[in-house]
Amino acid sequence: MGRLDGKVALITGAGKGIGEGCARVFAAEGAVVVIADIDAENGARVAAAIGEGGGRAIYQHTDVTRAASIREAIETTVTREGHLDILLNNAGTHIPKGAEALSEDEWDFLLTLNLKSAFLTTKYALPALRASRGVIINMSSLVGLVGQANSVAYCASKGGLIAMTKALALDHAGDGIRVNCILPAGVRTPLLQHWLDQQPDPAATQREVDGWHPLGWTASPEEIGRAALFLASADASFVTGVALPVDGGTSLGY
Ligand SMILES: NC(=O)c1ccc[n+]([C@@H]2O[C@H](COP(=O)([O-])OP(=O)(O)OC[C@H]3O[C@@H](n4cnc5c(N)ncnc54)[C@H](O)[C@@H]3O)[C@@H](O)[C@H]2O)c1
Repeated sequence: MGRLDGKVALITGAGKGIGEGCARVFAAEGAVVVIADIDAENGARVAAAIGEGGGRAIYQHTDVTRAASIREAIETTVTREGHLDILLNNAGTHIPKGAEALSEDEWDFLLTLNLKSAFLTTKYALPALRASRGVIINMSSLVGLVGQANSVAYCASKGGLIAMTKALALDHAGDGIRVNCILPAGVRTPLLQHWLDQQPDPAATQREVDGWHPLGWTASPEEIGRAALFLASADASFVTGVALPVDGGTSLGY
């Protein structure tokens, strides 16, 4: 008996990293998972791995920077599966630049990918989520609360996600839709590895990143996935509008 038996979950950016971790955890708990990612190769890889493990996942090619693509992903899911219960807005990236180095185009790109995308998925998923009394989870970041050096657009996008989560939670509580967001600190993903590889001494920086977390390690994608599972499941039936740090204690002294 899985905690998400009978549920359909659409996860953006589930082709690797945190989204993949969430997809694996959700599928293991019985959800049908729609992997909405721009990366066809990795999306198909994750869907196949979940299938081989006895779960059910479908890759749906999606570019979350394009409204038409989001709309198609949601309509295809609802038509094929009959309902949509969980929307996990996870796709996102980081451009590590301060205000002078960041171009206007880079700002627009990052805010579109990290923030506007979650508005658009929500907008188009709301009729189905209203029908299922469903759940929305937004993947923000601890830096959306506490800030991060050389990350002006990233922090703006993640802070925006926190505020949007609370606004949506209020607007749709009456529909029975819960809206929450997760604030990870460091998570061992290809995105983090890419950033580490740009540092002068990646191994030393990895040890430094581990040390940011009082618990002493950098989270695995599945550790974030299990927090998302709680928010997605009936265990969180009275939890809405929350920005949940899943950060190994980092926010206690970032
Ligand atoms: N890794 C961390 O330490 C960390 C910490 C806090 C928050 N986050 C957030 O978690 C989320 C996932 O991060 P990650 O580290 O797993 O990243 P990642 O780069 O490892 O994976 C991101 C996924 O999003 C997909 N994607 C990118 N652009 C897309 C688009 N236009 N349409 C659809 N899919 C697209 C990629 O193909 C990839 O599969 C992001 O929103 C990130 O900001 C990450």
